[in-house]
Amino acid sequence: MYKTLVTENDQGIFVITINRPEKLNALNRQVLTELEAVVDEVYSNPEIKSAIITGSGQKSFVAGADISEFTGLDPKQGMQLAKRGQQIFDKIENCPKPIIAAVNGFALGGGCELALACHFIYCSENAKFGQPEVNLGLIPGYGATQRLTQLIGRNRAMELLMSGNMISAKEAEQYGVVNHITSQEELLPKCKEILQTIGSKAPFAVAKVIESVNNFDHNQPGYDLEVKLFGECFATSDMKEGTSAFLEKRKPNFTGR
Ligand code: COA
Repeated sequence: MYKTLVTENDQGIFVITINRPEKLNALNRQVLTELEAVVDEVYSNPEIKSAIITGSGQKSFVAGADISEFTGLDPKQGMQLAKRGQQIFDKIENCPKPIIAAVNGFALGGGCELALACHFIYCSENAKFGQPEVNLGLIPGYGATQRLTQLIGRNRAMELLMSGNMISAKEAEQYGVVNHITSQEELLPKCKEILQTIGSKAPFAVAKVIESVNNFDHNQPGYDLEVKLFGECFATSDMKEGTSAFLEKRKPNFTGR
């Protein structure tokens, strides 16, 4: 059914393997189209309880968007490409069934972004993560400036995105990108193990966890409350004392008023 993907349903755990190993599983248009279709299948097929996205071969998860398809694109077409990729990755992120990334090698550019769009990431020891778009005179287009910043913090994201440097599996774990590192052989079994655990919980509750977690960063009432509380501080004596003390280069004497 798919030309660039291999799929297998293992007792409700749907393993999706991106299968262009000769191009390190780079995301060309066909892969993107099929990825969208397969995610739709995860949404709609009741036989599928959860999914794993991985790459074929021992070397690469996904080495990015297919750079050969960039040539000749004008700015409008570039924008359309990014928009399309983002829509598909949003669909992954918002899937009510767990979708995890099993990163088995290079996760670069769009490959790193694909992994970041999944609900969480396990990887093998040889995995490498990076956003090398600056090497191409580009920036990421499938969400990395947002998801990576949210996940690892602004300064680490700045460094990775501006340098194009890759990080190892260990560094990715330290940064909080990766939840668990395994050997190559253990990667899929470990992913299945955690999905079996999640699969034993109430599906409605799991779906609501995904929905709720995905919305934590766009909590407008939270931002509004912060503004309000910030303003309230200006009514206190301690705020006046604190700012005055700083300007007068002395220690503040707070009274709790
Ligand atoms: N798009 C298109 N083709 C890609 C690709 C990509 N993102 N990444 C790898 N390939 C192709 C290579 O062109 C090569 O094809 P060929 O055999 O027809 O020449 C094949 O995959 C193998 O890659 P190669 O570069 O020979 O392997 P390597 O082990 O020397 O290097 C990488 C591996 C991942 C470091 C290197 O392929 C790379 O830097 N890829 C691009 C990563 C990138 O910039 N991604 C962001 C894109 S926006």
